[in-house]
Amino acid sequence: MTADLLNSPPLLLLASAAASAVLALADSARAQTTAPDTLQHWAARRGLLIGVAVAPRPLRDDDAYRQLLAREFNIVTTENALKWQSIQPRPGEFTWDDADVIVAFATEHGMKFRSHCAVWHHALPDWVAALAADPPRMRQAMRDHIDAIGARYGGGMTYWDVVNEAMEDDGTLRDTPWLRGLGPDYIAEAFVAAHAAAPAVKLVYNDYGTEYPGPKSDAVYALVRDLLGRGVPVHAVGFQMHLLHGLGDTGPIKANFQRFAELGVQVHVTELDVAIQNLEGTPARKLERQADVYRRVMEICTRVEGVTVVQTWGLSDNHSWIPWFTGKPDAALLFDETYQPKPAYHAVLDVLAHDGQGPRAGDSSR
Ligand code: XIL
Repeated sequence: MTADLLNSPPLLLLASAAASAVLALADSARAQTTAPDTLQHWAARRGLLIGVAVAPRPLRDDDAYRQLLAREFNIVTTENALKWQSIQPRPGEFTWDDADVIVAFATEHGMKFRSHCAVWHHALPDWVAALAADPPRMRQAMRDHIDAIGARYGGGMTYWDVVNEAMEDDGTLRDTPWLRGLGPDYIAEAFVAAHAAAPAVKLVYNDYGTEYPGPKSDAVYALVRDLLGRGVPVHAVGFQMHLLHGLGDTGPIKANFQRFAELGVQVHVTELDVAIQNLEGTPARKLERQADVYRRVMEICTRVEGVTVVQTWGLSDNHSWIPWFTGKPDAALLFDETYQPKPAYHAVLDVLAHDGQGPRAGDSSR
């Protein structure tokens, strides 16, 4: 090619240079619009949303973070920015700055947006917990809080984690200020209020340790079935999947996700991360094992029809909550601290691009 160009008469050379300029332009336009080797490109072809929990600070001041996020993902969720403590630390005083940054970013980049989370026992200011002694005021506070989120973001958000972590491991309802103040029906009340506040938004019950069948998962299943039976608007169940100890056989998880899907709700993997601190081997081997876990989780998601969203809990290892949570260094996400893709990223991309098994493969409507 270079030799040909060197031997060409000037006119041809010009024409050829112009042609390559056009081609280069077309290439860069294609790169910007379809970015074929990205997670979101392949996820979208399967009708899947793939995203991460984001924090406002890097969105404000880290260009590399912003670029990587917009390139690879098509949904974001708020890691802490919409927790009660963040938006209404004192009664009636709302602060939206951090959440606004996240919503603006999602809007600007055509990404979907999930709000996390309205009713939870953590990140709950003391003044709300104290209202358990005064149920009518607690009920009003819950409704006002939900109304405020719905009024501000109801038009733009796709999903909303309305109730988070209401179940104990043994399948009983968790002893929280909400349960103590309002009784077991606080869950239904929260969903009804959220639907009234944001009728177009798909509402999610979210919990951890529920991916395998067992007392906790069975209890969430019974809860959701009961809510649906009573006409309470719940549209999806979120499975957090903070995998601190690797992953066992995935068959039971598939069957579990399947039974939830058969109830008529979407299945979301909402907070995926795979800690390496408890995986065997050298540092490099740990990353390979981690990639294998991510691969198998992704295979569940591409093969169970009801799974519509997969999110990791953070973009890169420098934005992971795992070291804070476990008190030990870790590297639980798809990108390392310098935003380079890890073996786990390539495993997830490979499944999204090539996994041809399961119901989705034959379903051309997706
Ligand atoms: C975590 C955040 O990642 C941390 O930054 C924060 O300090 C504590 O909460 N389940 C959830 C998330 O639903 O909201 C939690 O997020 C992780 C566990």
